[in-house]
Amino acid sequence: MASPAKYPLGDKIRQSPPVDLSIPYDPAWLKGKTILITGGASGFGAGFVRKWAANGATVVVGDINVQKGDALVRDVQKETGNSSVHFVHCDVTDWQSQVNLFKEAVRLSPHGGIDTVVANAGIAGDDPLQRPGKLDIAEPPEPNFKIIDVNLNGVLYTTHLAFFYLPRNPGSVDCNVNSDPTTNPRDRHLLLLGSIASLAPIPIQPQYGAAKHAVLGLFRSIRSSSFVQGVRVNLLCPYFIDTPIVTTGARIALAGGALGKVEDVVDAATRFTADSRILGRSLVIGPKLNVKQQENGEWTLVAKGSPEGQETAIWEAYAEDWEDSEAFCRSLVGALNTYQKARGWAGWAKDIIGALGYGLGFNRG
Ligand SMILES: NC(=O)c1ccc[n+]([C@@H]2O[C@H](COP(=O)([O-])OP(=O)(O)OC[C@H]3O[C@@H](n4cnc5c(N)ncnc54)[C@H](O)[C@@H]3O)[C@@H](O)[C@H]2O)c1
Repeated sequence: MASPAKYPLGDKIRQSPPVDLSIPYDPAWLKGKTILITGGASGFGAGFVRKWAANGATVVVGDINVQKGDALVRDVQKETGNSSVHFVHCDVTDWQSQVNLFKEAVRLSPHGGIDTVVANAGIAGDDPLQRPGKLDIAEPPEPNFKIIDVNLNGVLYTTHLAFFYLPRNPGSVDCNVNSDPTTNPRDRHLLLLGSIASLAPIPIQPQYGAAKHAVLGLFRSIRSSSFVQGVRVNLLCPYFIDTPIVTTGARIALAGGALGKVEDVVDAATRFTADSRILGRSLVIGPKLNVKQQENGEWTLVAKGSPEGQETAIWEAYAEDWEDSEAFCRSLVGALNTYQKARGWAGWAKDIIGALGYGLGFNRG
C-alpha cells in the first residue's frame, strides 16, 4: 500500500492511499464475516453471494424478487456447502422493509452483528422525465420517480441503517488503515454501488444519472466523517456490465464496444470487502483493456501482449481529490478530529461497555 504520508488530509479522514491493484488480497479473509446485500438476487449481487459464501462468509440477501432470491440461496448453499446464506424479502424503497432486513441479518448472524453492508439494489429502464405527455394534454401528468426511489432513496435508507448497525457489530473496532485483514477482524464496512453514470452523463436515463451522481456525492461526503463511527466506506463505479439491468436498447447502442464482466466487479468488491485496510476509495470497472500508465498518471491503450502494457478491468477513480479540499472541509475535518480526541479513554470505555452489553443481549432493539 502507498505511503499515507503523501496524503495528509486523506490521513485526517482515515482514508487509505489509492488502491494498489498489484497487491494481492485473499478472499479467505472474508471467512466469518456477516454481509448484508440489498438487491442480491441477480447480477452483481448474485456474483457477490456466490463468491463470498464460497469463502465462508454469512450472507444475507434482501431483494424484491422472491423467486430469484430463494433459488439463488438454495443453489449457493448446495454449491458451497455453506448453510449460512439467507434470503429475506425486502423492498428498499420501504423503510420498514429495510429495517426488517437489517434486524433479520443481525438475528441470523453467528456473531450477532453485521460486518459489511452492500447498497446494491438498483433499476434502470424507461424514464418519463423528459416526456411529460402529448402537446394536446391540458394537465401535466404526475411523473413516475421509481428510479430515484430505488437508486437514491433506497440507498439513503440503507446508508442510514448501516450507520446504525455497523458500530453495533460486537467486537468490532474503529476501521483502521493499519488493521490486519488476515486475522478476520470484526469489520464496519459500507460498500456503495455507483456507476460510470456517477462520473459521466447518461443520455435518456436522467433519473438514473441523477441518482448515481447523488450516490457519488453521498460517498464523497460520508467518507470524510465516517471515521467518527469507525465505519469505512467504499464505492464501485462499474461501466456497462453484462447483467439483466442492461436493456436491449443499451446493448444496441454499445454494439462494437465491449460490455464488462460481472467477475471483474466481483473481484473489485471482494478486494474492498476482504481488505479492511481500504478506507474511502472508489474503483471503476469496465471491459478488460491493455494499457500503459504515462508519467503524468494518464493511461494509454497499447497492443495486446505488448511487454510495456498490462491488462486490467479495474481503475482507481479518485486518487487524490481530498488533498484539494477547501476551507469548509478542512476546518470541519479538524473539528471532528478534535471531537474524537476529546472523547479519549472515556469514549472508548463507553463504547466497550456498550459492545459487551450488546454481546450479552442488551440494547439489541
Ligand atoms: N450492470 C451494469 O451495467 C451496472 C453498471 C453500473 C452500476 N450498476 C449498478 O449495480 C447495481 C446492481 O445491478 P445489476 O447490474 O446487478 O442489475 P440486476 O438487475 O441484475 O440486479 C438488481 C437487483 O436489484 C433488485 N431490486 C430492484 N428493485 C428493488 C427494490 N425496490 N428492492 C429490493 N431489490 C430491488 C432486483 O430484483 C435485482 O435482483 C445497481 O445499483 C446498478 O445500478 C450496474
